[in-house]
Amino acid sequence: MVDEVELLDVNPTSASSSSSEDESPVLTAKEKQKQSIQEVRRSLPVYLYREALLQAIQEHQVLIIEGETGSGKTTQVPQYLHEAGYCEGGKRVGCTQPRRVAAMSVAARVAQEMDKKLGNEVGYSIRFEDCTSERTKLKYMTDGMLLRE
Ligand SMILES: Nc1ncnc2c1ncn2[C@@H]1O[C@H](COP(=O)(O)OP(=O)(O)O)[C@@H](O)[C@H]1O
Ligand SMILES: [Mg+2]
Repeated sequence: MVDEVELLDVNPTSASSSSSEDESPVLTAKEKQKQSIQEVRRSLPVYLYREALLQAIQEHQVLIIEGETGSGKTTQVPQYLHEAGYCEGGKRVGCTQPRRVAAMSVAARVAQEMDKKLGNEVGYSIRFEDCTSERTKLKYMTDGMLLRE
């Protein structure tokens, strides 16, 4: 019932602005998936500290963040930095992981969250495999690769 009322509200405006060809559903499957990814991001414990973290990062050269496994440190903090403009002017955020698989899988996850192809804006670098490009803003790597840079 509620859906019908909302559809009635939405339709007159869309009918006036677009042609009468088949209307896509209010949200496409892809848009729904994007929305739910953003909801999951906001449900992670670290999200509550987003502003406080960005503030602390501005004020301190070195910051130690402690949080439980899965709280979102690895996947979220680099995205917060990117969203806050830290990657402007050709800069990059680097993030190390202890294992090759962790670097690869976490990069894949972040690329998915940002709706980018892995290796473009989000990439990883592990021994014998560099999955980054000039476009890469968030670079996940093993500790060993950082030492080589
Ligand atoms: N490769 C992945 N695929 C799917 N979900 C992932 C992946 N990596 C991390 N996640 C999920 O993202 C959330 C945050 O994880 P993460 O940022 O790695 O936390 P932390 O670094 O604090 O341990 C967790 O719910 C975790 O399950
Ligand atoms: Mg982590």
